[in-house]
Amino acid sequence: MERTLSFYQEREAQKSGVQALIGESAPMQYLKGTIAQLLDAERRAANTDLPPVLVEGETGTGKELVARALHFDGPRSKGPFIEFNCASIPSNLVESELFGHEKGAFTDAKDRRVGLVEAADGGTLFLDEVGEMDLLLQAKLLKLLEDRTIRRVGSVKERKVDLRVISATNCNLEQMVQQGKFRRDLFFRLRIISIKVPRLYARGEDILLLARHFLAAHGKRYGKPNLHFSDQAEELLLSYSWPGNVRELRNMLETDRAAGPERYHRSPSVERVPEPGGRSTHYPGGATPRAAAGLQRHGVDEPSGGRA
Ligand SMILES: Nc1ncnc2c1ncn2[C@@H]1O[C@H](COP(=O)(O)OP(=O)(O)O)[C@@H](O)[C@H]1O
Ligand SMILES: [Mg+2]
Repeated sequence: MERTLSFYQEREAQKSGVQALIGESAPMQYLKGTIAQLLDAERRAANTDLPPVLVEGETGTGKELVARALHFDGPRSKGPFIEFNCASIPSNLVESELFGHEKGAFTDAKDRRVGLVEAADGGTLFLDEVGEMDLLLQAKLLKLLEDRTIRRVGSVKERKVDLRVISATNCNLEQMVQQGKFRRDLFFRLRIISIKVPRLYARGEDILLLARHFLAAHGKRYGKPNLHFSDQAEELLLSYSWPGNVRELRNMLETDRAAGPERYHRSPSVERVPEPGGRSTHYPGGATPRAAAGLQRHGVDEPSGGRA
């Protein structure tokens, strides 16, 4: 238990509120407005028993940042923020991970273990990729939401917990309900408050705000301030569809670590093509996205496997 908990507590250290959400586009203003309204209502509420929130959006759109913003800018900010990715471990292990177990509850249960739900007591439990939860576990989660009690695996004792549940998904849960893959009652329970995070491509110029932010962070890390994209590079950034959303953009701009940011333009007017035989870069998953390919052609980055 200690190992897992300390991992989650470490992640918890990455505190970030609404201000971490970069974006001025209309869809982002709408999103931030929704979050601000919700936080405002929560601050004024008499108790800290806050309704569940379901954050929906494609992968890499910033759902986790939204969940963190709700926690760290909300009335439970002094409590823990515990994150669990429902797709990260085999479903037969999820139950003890979440609810804990007693010593000897099953073959590998050598010690008693506190689950993440108990660890989140007084704070927020963030259930990422909640659509991946199997039906058996969905029933247990529903019970948790209804009774606010849990039972460790192998225990008869019910324990009260006080937590706020925020869940996130890139699945169409409504469709999963139709298909019998997700419990209808749980769906409505989780989605008392619904927040939708827009895809990056729909955010227009925010793409540039974010790209400059990641480029500056990259430059800072390597002691190269004042890096810029060329006009052409910016056009390419704006024209690409970004199926992996903000995460794809960030990964792309952080990929060429070894080569360093000299590969990027120092001023919008300078076109700089990497020298032949330079170091190669690899894109996530081995694929070279269209924008990345275009950026490479225009000298912002370097082609995979050297220059053609
Ligand atoms: N609006 C934003 N401003 C700044 N960084 C963002 C924004 N949206 C996403 N990110 C960054 O992009 C990455 C993916 O975000 P994340 O919240 O993990 O996405 P999701 O949970 O939807 O897959 C993270 O590194 C996150 O910090
Ligand atoms: Mg995520």
